Amino acid sequence: MSRLPRTYDPPVKLTPKQANIYVWGFQPEARFRDAVCGRRFGKTFLGKAEMRRAARLAAEWGVSVEDEIWYGAPTFKQAKRVFWRRLKQAIPEAWRATRPNETECSITLKSGHVMRVVGLDNYDNLRGSGLFFVLVDEWADCPWEAWEEVLRPMLSTCQYTIPSGESRKGGHALRIGTPKGFNHCYDTFQDGRPGHEPDHKSWLYTSLDGGNVPAEELDAARRKMDPRTFRQEYEASFENYAGVVYYTFNRNESRTSERIKPGEALHIGMDFNVMKMSAVVYVVRDGLPLALDEFHAVRDTPEMIEKIKARFPGHSVAVYPDASGQNTSSKNASESDISLLRKAGFSVIVDSVNPSVKDRVNSLNAILLNTYGERRLKVNIDQCPQLTLCLERQTYTDKGEPDKDPKKGHDHMNDAAGYFIVKRFPITQHTATVQSLRI
Ligand SMILES: Nc1ncnc2c1ncn2[C@@H]1O[C@H](COP(=O)(O)OP(=O)(O)OP(=O)(O)O)[C@@H](O)[C@H]1O
Ligand SMILES: [Mg+2]
Repeated sequence: MSRLPRTYDPPVKLTPKQANIYVWGFQPEARFRDAVCGRRFGKTFLGKAEMRRAARLAAEWGVSVEDEIWYGAPTFKQAKRVFWRRLKQAIPEAWRATRPNETECSITLKSGHVMRVVGLDNYDNLRGSGLFFVLVDEWADCPWEAWEEVLRPMLSTCQYTIPSGESRKGGHALRIGTPKGFNHCYDTFQDGRPGHEPDHKSWLYTSLDGGNVPAEELDAARRKMDPRTFRQEYEASFENYAGVVYYTFNRNESRTSERIKPGEALHIGMDFNVMKMSAVVYVVRDGLPLALDEFHAVRDTPEMIEKIKARFPGHSVAVYPDASGQNTSSKNASESDISLLRKAGFSVIVDSVNPSVKDRVNSLNAILLNTYGERRLKVNIDQCPQLTLCLERQTYTDKGEPDKDPKKGHDHMNDAAGYFIVKRFPITQHTATVQSLRI
């Protein structure tokens, strides 16, 4: 086992909260760590201590020199600006084999291991080596695909032997950052909560917890910022951010634990899409809707019919579909999706054309929260996980339209939810009159 030369640099002193994150490093129960922290908490500072330890352990544990140690940020420019100088400070000269490579931003250690600063925007160019450790900074702003397609596979081949003689497999990762709405950073944070993934661990700390921002400074920020942005940036709170289409949805306040009762009449909003059909199952109680179940990623209309019948025997079913389903079905050229639904014994409530997207979005937003603060539509978020996720995540494009990017796929469930709401609970009287004439 080779070791790096002993150095006499003073050790960095971590704050108690930084130390909580640090002590779990390289433990099998915390192979993937997520630290969600407010601005100026000291995330990047902690990164220095993490990178230095990774360099030392790679040498001590006999990690192959093919397995590298990386710091990644959303872009190379940002990674270099934020961390390259700090990385050189963190790695003692006595550990370096050669001078740092200023163009590539890499350091080769006497043990043969390579440390690098990388940008995760061009993640396709990063493949090649294995990884012993990766620190991802500003995780909420990095593309999820960089993790899933490149970093995660690179972490899977690394092997080494710890001092007790036990041999272990798999590199380690620490993802740190400030939240940005409910995106992948929220998911990986959840993976690390107690009772979730066995090899993930996560922490959430405010800027104040970090001890680097004085309380007066926080007060000044509070005066200048809107409450939502303040909570996100300084309290590391996951917030619906401004660009979200269904900004009135709130998983805590919109939730219900109600379930569908035997024989209850069902109202199903439905969106047609080959392989990606979506449906939201509502009941109406005391004149108000409850979204209590869902169907997600169903192949086609015949399969949807089969699934509804199997899950809900003995219920009357009214379907509120996308009006474009009146065209011939992709499944059966001679029959439309809507006629298939009617044939199955469902009543189908649909106009000849779809309402405008704006009317549908506005109606759904209004019933989720009106200006009197009333939440008239409640959602069982455990039974409707996909609807919950899509309501939280669908954003507007630069052109101001709800994003229908098939890679994200956040549109279908919301469309399905909206077809029922715009028909039965339209936002304006005017729409109601026109619609009642058409029925
Ligand atoms: N343990 C520590 N000891 C001394 N100074 C520290 C410590 N942790 C952080 N700091 C200092 O606090 C400031 C903020 O730290 P850092 O840049 O690491 O925070 P951050 O959470 O990455 O901030 P941002 O949200 O802006 O990315 C820096 O000046 C840093 O040097
Ligand atoms: Mg930082």
